[in-house]
Amino acid sequence: SLLDVAIDNNIDLEGFGACEGTLSCSTCHLILKKENYDQLKPPSDEENDMLDLAYGLEPTSRLGCQII
Ligand code: FES
Repeated sequence: SLLDVAIDNNIDLEGFGACEGTLSCSTCHLILKKENYDQLKPPSDEENDMLDLAYGLEPTSRLGCQII
């Protein structure tokens, strides 16, 4: 997932990925370019539920830990 990429590359994003990809936070919230968003499978119901809690939600928002 994109969360794994950030971790594997020691990208220090304060608080990013707090739940380690277990879909129980929204700290991995990303806003994607539409062309990138459109290439992904749609978010699951569980991801959408957690996205609803994300700050600054946009139509192309996703959770980084769910993008594989
Ligand atoms: Fe918590 Fe993605 S890391 S939902």
